[in-house]
This record gives sequence, C-alpha cells and structure tokens, in this order.
Amino acid sequence: MAKDYSELTQEELIDLIYRLEKKRKYGLVWDEEQAPEEVVQNCSKFLPVLKPLEVKGIVKKGLEDHVLIQGDNFHALSVLSYTHKNQIDLIYIDPPYNTGNQEDEEGFVYNDKRVDSDDTYRHSKWLNFMSRRLELSRDLLKDSGFCFISIDEHEFAQLRLVCDQIFGEENFVNFLTWKKRSTGGQVKDGSIITQTEFIFIYAKNKKIGKLNKIDNPNVGTEKWRDFRKSGGQWQRRHRPKQYYPFFYDSKNDVLLLGRLKKTDVEIFPLDSKGEEGFWENGVDTATKRLKSGEFKVELIKSGLLKGTYKIKQLEVASDVQNVGNFVDIPSVQGANEIRELGLAFNNAKPLNLIEFILKIASNKESLILDYFAGSGTTGHAVIRLNSIDGGNRQTILCTNNEANVMAPKGISTDVTIPRLIKASNGYKNDKNESIPGLGGNLRIFETDFVKNSKNKDQIKFDIAEKCAEVLCLKEFTFDLYEEHEDWKIYRKDNKYVAIYFSLLPNNLESLRLAMNAIIGSKILYCFTLDPNGLDFYQFDNWNDIELKDIPQKILDTYKRIFNI
Ligand SMILES: C[S@@+](CC[C@H](N)C(=O)[O-])C[C@H]1O[C@@H](n2cnc3c(N)ncnc32)[C@H](O)[C@@H]1O
Repeated sequence: MAKDYSELTQEELIDLIYRLEKKRKYGLVWDEEQAPEEVVQNCSKFLPVLKPLEVKGIVKKGLEDHVLIQGDNFHALSVLSYTHKNQIDLIYIDPPYNTGNQEDEEGFVYNDKRVDSDDTYRHSKWLNFMSRRLELSRDLLKDSGFCFISIDEHEFAQLRLVCDQIFGEENFVNFLTWKKRSTGGQVKDGSIITQTEFIFIYAKNKKIGKLNKIDNPNVGTEKWRDFRKSGGQWQRRHRPKQYYPFFYDSKNDVLLLGRLKKTDVEIFPLDSKGEEGFWENGVDTATKRLKSGEFKVELIKSGLLKGTYKIKQLEVASDVQNVGNFVDIPSVQGANEIRELGLAFNNAKPLNLIEFILKIASNKESLILDYFAGSGTTGHAVIRLNSIDGGNRQTILCTNNEANVMAPKGISTDVTIPRLIKASNGYKNDKNESIPGLGGNLRIFETDFVKNSKNKDQIKFDIAEKCAEVLCLKEFTFDLYEEHEDWKIYRKDNKYVAIYFSLLPNNLESLRLAMNAIIGSKILYCFTLDPNGLDFYQFDNWNDIELKDIPQKILDTYKRIFNI
C-alpha cells in the first residue's frame, strides 16, 4: 500500500529525503533480502579454511604448481582474500548461466535447489550469488589484472550492470562475441538460432592493465597504400611542413626528393579534386624511406588528375596485432576434448577459446584463477600453453562437487581431477593412442571450517591449528620438509616456510635450530594471541628469517568480509 506522506512529521520527511538522496541514481537494483544465500550467511558461524583432499594430486620436482580447491567457491574466495589479495593476473570464469535448465551445468543451484525459469526471484538470486563472488574476486586482482566472464543471453544485461557497479564502468574493456556453432539444434519454427555467447572483459584498473597483441598470421605480407594523409584533418594547412614535392623521371622510372633534370615531374599530395593535402612523413623521414625502397609511383588513370602521378608507400604487416572482439571456435571442440579423455561433461569450453584468452591477458609468469572450473578446461589450457611456449603460468581452480547423471560421485571427483591428472601425466585416448603428458604439478585441497566462538582466544587457537594448508597456498610451498610436535616446515625449491602452531614456546628452540641449519629463503609464521603481532626482539637469534604472525590477519580478513 502506498505511504500517506501527509501523516509524516517534518523530521520523518527530512529523514526520508536524506535516504532518497543517498540512493543509487542509476544502475541495478535487486532484492537482496527475500532469498539470502545460506552459504554466505553461514560463514559468520563457520569460518572457511582448507584441508588436503584424500585424492593424491601430482607432486614432481621442478614443475610449476597448480591448485584445485574442491568446495563452494564463496568459501574458496574467502580463503583467497587472505592468501592472494592483489596477486592474481587473470580471472576467467564461466558461471551457471541461469537458463532454468534442470539438468546441466548452465542451470543454477541456489540454496541447494535448482532455480527454474518460472521463479520470480531468479534474477535476484543469481545477482546475490554472483555479486558476492565478483566483489571478493575483484580484490584478488593485481592493479594490472583482468577479469573475463562467460555469459549467454539469459543474464547478459544483469551481468553488465552488476560488473559496472563492482569494477566501475570506466574499467569495462569490451566483450568478446564467441561464435560457438553455425547451425542450431532444435529450433522453434520462426525463431532465431542461438549461435553465440559472450565474454565480458573488465580491467581492475584500465589505466594500468594492458592486453597483449597476438601473433599476426599475415606477418611479413606487403601492402601498398597512399602516402598522402587521408581522413581526419588532411588539408595542407594542418601540416604545412609535410607539403613538399617528389620529383619523378618517368623515362628512367627514378623517384627523388630533389630535382635532377628539368624534365622531372613534380608530384604533390593532392586529393582527387586537386586540393592540397600533406604527406604522412616529413621530408627527412621520407628521404630515409625512399632510400630503403619504401615508395613507388603510380599513374592516375581516371578522374580530374588523370595522367598525373601519386606516391604509394610500402606497409609490411608486423608480427603482432590487436585482436578483434569476434572469436569463431566451434563448441564441439570442447565436447570432443572431453570425450577423448574418456570423461563426460556437458558444455566444456574449447581449449582453444581459453588459450585465446590466456594469450591476450596473461604472460609466461601469470597466476590465473578460475572459480567456476567445471571440467577444468582453464587448468588444462594453462598447462598446454606452458608446454607450447615454455611458460611458467600457474592456476588456482575451484569447483564444487555437484553430482549429476554423468558424474554420480560429483564433478570434481569424476571429471575435474581425472582430467587434470590425465592432461599433466599423459593418457590413452578413445582410439587407444598414447597422448603425452603436458607437465605441471597438481595440489588438491577441499574446504574445511573452524567453528566461530564468542571466546576470541579459542577461535585463534582453532584457526591456528587448521591453517597450515591456507599458509601453504599463500606461499605456494606445498611439500612437507620436516615436522615436529607444534611445528612444520614446508618447502618449494630453496624457499622454506615454517609454521609454529602452539602458544607455549617449549618447542620454538627446536624449530630455530632446524631453520638456522637451512640455507635458502626462510619465512616463519608464529602463533600469538597478541592482536598487535609478535615481539621481534625474541627472534634476534634466528638467521635471515622473515617473521609473520598468525592468526590475527586471517581473522581480520574474515571480520571484514563476513561482518563478524
Ligand atoms: C558452466 S560450468 C563451467 C564449465 C567450465 N568452464 C568448463 O569448461 O568445463 C560451471 C561450473 O561451476 C560449478 N559451480 C556452480 N556453483 C558453484 C559454486 N558455488 N562453487 C563452486 N563451483 C560452482 C558447477 O558445478 C559447474 O561445473
């Protein structure tokens, strides 16, 4: 029922005006309260951490590490908010498209129920779900980083507006139109075949982030075009110094920038009506280019200037080019790639599509995040590109273990993990041919929880006891090197990370001796209840150690994102 404003007091009216003035003037509004997300709400009661998954990943010396986190991506992103703030170069996600489909991955599960197309809150639910995850993941990007998001027509408009809100409209780069098929499957009479999907591109900060040019297939090809400036401000008055004559000896086909013979013909930059323009370079550059054979003369065969000459310049296609925003890669490639691995998953993106994104938005050392990993295409594409160009890119992938008819034990168990292991180690394809492995280690974790408690010390003890894997992820050191009651040391090459879990200092001395015996880069995470951190003087006799305290900063992150 409409409010009767005449009954409000002056104070109430003023308060109302203030509130209306504060309201967003333009953008997207949705119902956040009607159907809040339980996963998000429960985080104030159970704080997410990580634990190793029973299934073994791939652990080989000297290979780059990739990480798979099995669990809800809101939990994984919360952990990453502590471990990887401002550290990710590229995020690619392919979220559920909210198609209303009850079966496949493009449908959308919210509060453990599939959202169908008749649900009047379907867009609100999807926006609740996406906005929380996009907000967390935006903060994980480096200032130079980019976020690519796949979407189809169902939530295209909503995604654009919510991303403008989260990334800022000024950081919208473009969207790719991906042509995934040429013909449709079953299409209703008189309707339109859906051939495309879209990939939104946002920069964390468009002033800082730059996309790569990619290899130009026309590299080295020659093209001749007019040396006279055309388009925009092309008249002589705009660049008077670039209006000068070439001299042409037509009998001997000799072109010069000074007169040699009386009979030489002068060639000026004139348009088809004879109006004076200017050359694209000044006379000094033109002299150099003339010497290297970059100009030729062409007879004008029609129009007002028929019988006179014009100058053409040589253009050689460079080895790289900016990409366009149209990509034509059949989606059936993705389906074939899954089948060839002996696995079953609908709507896996083609490796070539993800490789295209990696080429334009990553370099050989980039850290790449996909938190709707599904069948693991992004992980597969990263190790494949690394094996092609010798790169050292690393990925963090997250997927839930949603079960379906094709993956009865869950997507992660039945598809993502086997796919990544097969791609790294090699496998026999569906024709019994041996496909060599692409390399790379795989570290597999699942989400776990620490019960929140009113007792602030208790919660610190509980987090410290369960934070080893979180710290391993933070430092990307996953191999246990040495362990003892109260402490562990993890290692990657010559980097060593020690964790001291106990409040009692009894075993600190044994850890000091172990760490002092190590030569390499060394970090110590040490437990303290003091919210202000550790007393650095206590660690004077530790050699070359970088000292960090736990678990206050983990708690601070959770306070910020869960409002606890
Ligand atoms: C469209 S698929 C991604 C497909 C992927 N790009 C590929 O090529 O295989 C979306 C995936 O996100 C997973 N997913 C949905 N909600 C999730 C959540 N809250 N946390 C983690 N994964 C989720 C689904 O299980 C599904 O596998």
